[in-house]
Amino acid sequence: MINVAILGYGVVGSGVAEVIRKNSRSIAQRAGEEIQVKRILDIRDFPEGPDSSLLTKDAEVVFGDSSIAIVVETIGGAGIAHEFTKKAFSLKKHVVTSNKELIATHGPELLKMASENCVSYLFEASVGGGIPIIRPLNQCLAANVINGITGILNGTTNYILTQMRKEGRDFSDALKSAQEHGYAEANPTADIEGHDACRKIAILSSIAYNEFVDCNAIYTEGITKISVIDMQYAELMDSVIKLIAMSKKAGDRIFARVSPAIISKGHPLSNVEDVFNAIVVKGDVIGDAMFYGRGAGKLPTASAVVADIIDIVRHFDSYGNNSWPRKDYNNLIDISESETRYFVRVKTRNTEEARKFIRNTFAAPEFLFHIRQEAEGELAFTTEKSTEAELAGKVDALKGIGAIKEVVSVLRIEEE
Ligand code: HSE
Repeated sequence: MINVAILGYGVVGSGVAEVIRKNSRSIAQRAGEEIQVKRILDIRDFPEGPDSSLLTKDAEVVFGDSSIAIVVETIGGAGIAHEFTKKAFSLKKHVVTSNKELIATHGPELLKMASENCVSYLFEASVGGGIPIIRPLNQCLAANVINGITGILNGTTNYILTQMRKEGRDFSDALKSAQEHGYAEANPTADIEGHDACRKIAILSSIAYNEFVDCNAIYTEGITKISVIDMQYAELMDSVIKLIAMSKKAGDRIFARVSPAIISKGHPLSNVEDVFNAIVVKGDVIGDAMFYGRGAGKLPTASAVVADIIDIVRHFDSYGNNSWPRKDYNNLIDISESETRYFVRVKTRNTEEARKFIRNTFAAPEFLFHIRQEAEGELAFTTEKSTEAELAGKVDALKGIGAIKEVVSVLRIEEE
């Protein structure tokens, strides 16, 4: 019998307890041992369950119990969860987690500490919810040099964008619904401002390129400024708007970015809707491989956590933590150097003059026709490829002329 403790009985922690209980027989067959939840640590009261004999508010009840071999950390954040993870390693307990903030921030140190203590630190559930992606990157694709990763890595924002596009719902209404489904983070700012997706692309990139990719250095933009009108313009381009997290290798440096982007309906990520996530990995041997599934929610995420527990039990005496060395130079390329095409939407005071100025400023802009042009005095166009720095200069020039009242939207067009 293998004893597990769950730290944090929130959406994911309670899902882990439920999956272990529900599938105990098949889990025991796969693991080769029975697995039971011996303790649940949480400072809150749960009058509706779980079994009160499992619950404790005292961390020492967990850490002082040498029969607990595996700790599931589903507290989240990089505060007490960090302390508890280090404590578990120092007591030679394996740790499984869904905590992307902790890994993205302290991954190199925690992986090192786990190895020094001969225990595993597994975090399949930290990216893509129930989608297997960490293990495939670490193991199944290990023969490849990975050149790039592009993904939809946040279920909440994908759900919101899908609801806005398909149902015409407004942003806050769609966010409320995502929270009710248990997709969103405790503080949904991390979802809607792109920080959650940023941590996830940082984790995937650190694994893929065998070096630490610091989430704090990744350019990150959320979806709060996206409107249903932008989506209608995308539709005119036979495209959709998605929150895209991407990274790619460029020589000995890496470019990574999280931002809303217009992607053509022919792009493999364009049909990924609702809470689903998908990740396209570019390997030099395999070519493109795509991973798809439910990226958030109680049971899909618990599915990945429990799979990690089973993996530890099957390989109890071995541990295989990768290391993510920190480079002694800035390994990330600045956003200003990156090149893409853009979609720009402006409100005008004098549409003809504005159009003339745009033609003189941008090389071969392609204007899009939308009914709002007449009604609201709007112009929208796509540009040729240019660097972000060049684009920013041109957008500033638009803001400076009298014929243009306001630059409403600037969106990247993702082509790869
Ligand atoms: N808030 C996250 C999401 C949960 O919406 O994707 C899963 O990491």
